Amino acid sequence: MKHLLKMADLTKDDIFDIFETAEKLKSYNKNKIEHPVLKNKTLGMIFIKSSTRTRVSFEVGMHQLGGKGLFLSANDLQLGRGESIYDTAKTLSRYLDGVMIRTYAQKDVEDFAEHGDIPVINGLTDYAHPCQVLADLMTVKEYKINTGKYKSFDDLKLCFIGDGFNMANSLIVGGLTVGMNVAVANPKGYEITNEMKDFGSKFPGKFLFANDVKEAAKDADVLVTDVWYSMGQDDIEERKAAFKDYRIDAELMKSAKGGAIVLHCLPAHKDEEISSEIFSLHENVIFEEAENRLHAQKAVMVKLMT
Ligand code: CP
Ligand code: NVA
Repeated sequence: MKHLLKMADLTKDDIFDIFETAEKLKSYNKNKIEHPVLKNKTLGMIFIKSSTRTRVSFEVGMHQLGGKGLFLSANDLQLGRGESIYDTAKTLSRYLDGVMIRTYAQKDVEDFAEHGDIPVINGLTDYAHPCQVLADLMTVKEYKINTGKYKSFDDLKLCFIGDGFNMANSLIVGGLTVGMNVAVANPKGYEITNEMKDFGSKFPGKFLFANDVKEAAKDADVLVTDVWYSMGQDDIEERKAAFKDYRIDAELMKSAKGGAIVLHCLPAHKDEEISSEIFSLHENVIFEEAENRLHAQKAVMVKLMT
C-alpha cells in the first residue's frame, strides 16, 4: 500500500492492520505515552474544501507522532491560480514526506499520486472519504466486537441512509471488504452509481440497494447517515424535497436491531438527515467516531510514511 486514495486500495488485512495500530496509538494517547515515530517528517495538507475534523486531526496527529502538519489552503497555493497538479506534485515531493488532499475531483488525487514520489492520502473527494470510513469501522469494532457482543464484522449489518455520494461509496466498499452486510437507501435521482452496484453484486447476499429506508434499515446493527447537500452541491431546496423521508429518526430506529448504534461523519444538520432526538441519544458514539479520525489517520500515516 503506497497511498490511500479510496477504500478499494485496502485489503481486509490492510484494514485490520490499521485498526491494530490505531488502537495501540489510541491507548498511547490515553496513557500519555509518547510515540514520535514520524520525527522530522512533514505532511502537507492541501485543502480545496473546508474542514474542521480532517484539518485538526491530521495536524494534531502529525504533532503527536513527532512530525509536522503543514496546512496549505487553495488560496495560498499556486494550484489555486492554475499551476498544474503535475508540477505541484513534482515540486512538493522534494519537500514533503507525505501529502493529504481534500478536493472535488478524485482524478486530482489520483494524478498527484501518479506524478509525485510521496504517499498521498485522500482527505475527501466527491468520490470517496476513506479516512472517515476507517474511523467509522474502527468505531463499529470498538462498540460491537471489542465489547464481545459479536464475534466479527461478518455478523453485523450496516445501513447507510442518504445521498449516493462520497460517504455511501466508501461505506459500501469498506463495509463489504471487512465482511459486513451493507444496505444503502438513496432517493431516486441521488442513487449510488452502477460502479457501486456492481461492486456490491460481487458480495452475493451481503449487499442491498433500496429506495425504501425501512427495507434498508431492517435489523441493522449500525445506522449511518450524512448531510443531504455536500460541499459543492448548491441545489439545496431540490435536495431538501427529495431527501425529506431519508432521515434517521425514532420511527426508523424501530426497523433496526435493538441496541443498534448510529454514526454520522459530521458536520450534522440536525432535524434534516438525523432527528435531534436520535443525535442526542447517540452522540457519545458519534463523538467517539470523530475522535477515532485522529487514531485511524495516525495509523495510516505510520503505515505510509515509515
Ligand atoms: N467528517 C469530516 O470529514 O469532517 P470535516 O469536514 O470537518 O473535516
Ligand atoms: N458528504 C459530505 C461529507 C462531509 C464530511 C461532504 O462531502 O460535504
